[in-house]
Amino acid sequence: MISKSDILFQATKSIPKFIEKVNPLSSDFEITNRGVWSSEIFALCVMCDLFDVDDYIESGLYKGQSISNVRKYKSIPCYGFDLKIKDNIKTRLKYFFDHGLFFEQDSFIEIPELLKDDLDQEKNGIFIDGPKGWDALKLAEKVIGNNNVKFIGIHDSYLPVDMNDTHYKFRKHLEDNFNTWSTDDTDFVRKYSYLDNARWLEYLEEDQLGGILPYNKIKFLHDGSKYDGRLLKSYGPTITFIWRK
Ligand SMILES: C[S@@+](CC[C@H](N)C(=O)[O-])C[C@H]1O[C@@H](n2cnc3c(N)ncnc32)[C@H](O)[C@@H]1O
Repeated sequence: MISKSDILFQATKSIPKFIEKVNPLSSDFEITNRGVWSSEIFALCVMCDLFDVDDYIESGLYKGQSISNVRKYKSIPCYGFDLKIKDNIKTRLKYFFDHGLFFEQDSFIEIPELLKDDLDQEKNGIFIDGPKGWDALKLAEKVIGNNNVKFIGIHDSYLPVDMNDTHYKFRKHLEDNFNTWSTDDTDFVRKYSYLDNARWLEYLEEDQLGGILPYNKIKFLHDGSKYDGRLLKSYGPTITFIWRK
């Protein structure tokens, strides 16, 4: 049974390679809007290592921040699905198109098919970053029972303070029904939120402070004023990973 300490131990083993291959703090690292945070990309890589997956499958690519960096880290096939992939993104993510790994299709239909046919005998890790919320869970529930699915990461699973907020209910539902680990884990944030430093500065510059900072940074803003932490217990996006009980 995988536990939080297994994940954190794997993180200590995975970080040197992540810095070498992805290095989110270098000036070459490209940050795209609506993309996941670097500490979250790291968490995806840690989970792929820990569950020793043969393939990574992503639903919701947009500009490819998450999938392109997971692929930089791990030399495994990375399959991506999006309802619409813009032409300029096709150029940017040429590798995936050249290798037939990107599909402009609805994940609800295509991911279960891929797992049933081509990837039936493989160990697969899945990340859902579109559809969102309960729809993401609907997609996860279609495949979490498959023996060939080792984990599913669901983005935007942050924890608000308000217990009536649907995000709160969503997160609790995941925790009550599956084995879970979330990237807002205090020990993980303390140790690895520095990976988001470049992104954090970008958000400060754009003045988008609505609860999206890694949450060890949200007590005080850059100008020393106090952040209003009544909205969120965790930082904005957050991936919750689920795997079978
Ligand atoms: C927030 S963006 C993904 C960002 C990306 N993971 C990154 O890190 O850059 C969400 C994407 O999910 C896609 N999406 C929503 N529902 C989908 C579905 N049923 N199947 C495939 N893609 C979907 C949207 O078209 C959108 O491009």
